[in-house]
Amino acid sequence: MAAASARRRVLSVASECTPLAKTGGLADVVGALPAALAPHGWRSRVLMPAYPHVRERIGRSRRLWRTDDLFGGPAAVRSCSVDGIDLLLLDAPHLYDRAGGPYGVDGRDHPDNHVRFAALSWAAARIVVEGLSDRWRPDVVHAHDWQAGLVPSYLKYAGSGTPTVMTIHNIAFQGVFAPDQLDRLRLPTWDFHPDALEYHGLVSALKAGMVHASRVTTVSRTYAEELTTPQFGFGLEGVVAARSARGEMGGIVNGIDTAIWDPSADPHVAEPYSADAPGAKQAARTALLREFGLGDPDGPLAVVVTRLTHQKGIDLLLEAIPGFVAEGGAVAVLGSGEADYEHGLRELAGRFPGSVGVHIGYDEPLSHRMYAGGDMVVVPSRFEPCGLTQLYGLRYGAVPLVASTGGLRDTVADADADAIASGTATGFVLSQATVQGLAEALDRARSLYADRAAWRRVRERGMRAEVDWSDSGRQYAELFAELAR
Ligand code: ADP
Ligand code: GLC
Repeated sequence: MAAASARRRVLSVASECTPLAKTGGLADVVGALPAALAPHGWRSRVLMPAYPHVRERIGRSRRLWRTDDLFGGPAAVRSCSVDGIDLLLLDAPHLYDRAGGPYGVDGRDHPDNHVRFAALSWAAARIVVEGLSDRWRPDVVHAHDWQAGLVPSYLKYAGSGTPTVMTIHNIAFQGVFAPDQLDRLRLPTWDFHPDALEYHGLVSALKAGMVHASRVTTVSRTYAEELTTPQFGFGLEGVVAARSARGEMGGIVNGIDTAIWDPSADPHVAEPYSADAPGAKQAARTALLREFGLGDPDGPLAVVVTRLTHQKGIDLLLEAIPGFVAEGGAVAVLGSGEADYEHGLRELAGRFPGSVGVHIGYDEPLSHRMYAGGDMVVVPSRFEPCGLTQLYGLRYGAVPLVASTGGLRDTVADADADAIASGTATGFVLSQATVQGLAEALDRARSLYADRAAWRRVRERGMRAEVDWSDSGRQYAELFAELAR
């Protein structure tokens, strides 16, 4: 199959890509897809902004495209390769030379983010239409989240027939802005109506992509279904339902990059271990307890690695932790986000020294040590399009305890009596996303943990679960092939 289709090309457009810029799972997915698609004959190039720290990190690059005016300043696209990923970096200092992360400084978004990412989308469309100076032109364009949401629209206005796939990683972020910006962003006012760019009197970049792309995908099957409902659709459920009804929308579950996330070859883990030889996981646990200043608990050590936001159910966690540690559990949290949650977690750490440890911040190496050292990883999200932390947990033997939503539900098999008996259980799924539901699941986990043999069986099953990209890479490749035909 690979040989027959070796020359097909996909342009992936995103605001983040591991290892260059990451604020969440989007980056890991965008960074992993090229390798996932390659065995199926697809060569990827990833277009992303040349943020200052990205420019510093890359070595030699080649300029392949330029313009004098990308929404108010000159811009160029440079190609380079990092960790085997072929990158196209959009160099536009007037838009991307800013302190802080990809979207803002100190938790506050830049006010002109709609311009910064419309520019990324416009440049993507120009590349497709004009081709790059090395004659590269894609057969399919893959747009990720609202930051690339306008790519299909710009292509449509340019009269391009290149097929596009719009992948929704999180519908809660839509890139909404006022219609008085249309001219400035080179978007036509004639398409400002509810069947195209308009969203309740405003412009929505994500909606535009969902309407104009050849196909829409999201990152798990359950989330694709949830998105048709008002509870999860954030106002776009109608668009989702319409495209689903026409068979133009579906879910492809994320995988993880098992070259980066492998407890038997992880540079951040002192002693390697695996499902076949899990012995050294104990050493990672001991080291993590020490790192967080925790005593050795009788119960499980639960880890949490997350953005601290409402989506992630942090309020539920804050309420459930006291009961869990009172019964012998311990908790280590790595995260950053909303001030109230940071404060609440610090407060718990102060109240339960030796049982609750908190590290506020973003720390990639520490995240690896946490999955390795944790007995379980807790993900009580209110909604979760896919979720990667439960997958890293599975792989590293940190048994996932997750809410019953989105990709969490699709990737974790609850340890109910039947699943334990049949040996298919890989974790714990909350019966309901409430404090009580979380407390109940934590109780079940504690009981199972007390039966070490039973716990090890669930853990081992999880470590052997298929969480790599092989199946989902094939599904994306098939979708692209169908559209490029
Ligand atoms: P989301 O993209 O909604 O944040 P995911 O579970 O898909 O959720 O992905 C989160 C990714 O970000 C994972 O790779 C996780 O390890 C990482 N991550 C989240 N918070 C932190 C943090 N504070 N430090 C390091 N890594 C983090
Ligand atoms: C989003 C979602 C998360 C998903 C990630 C990668 O950030 O919140 O659930 O895993 O994108 O697709």
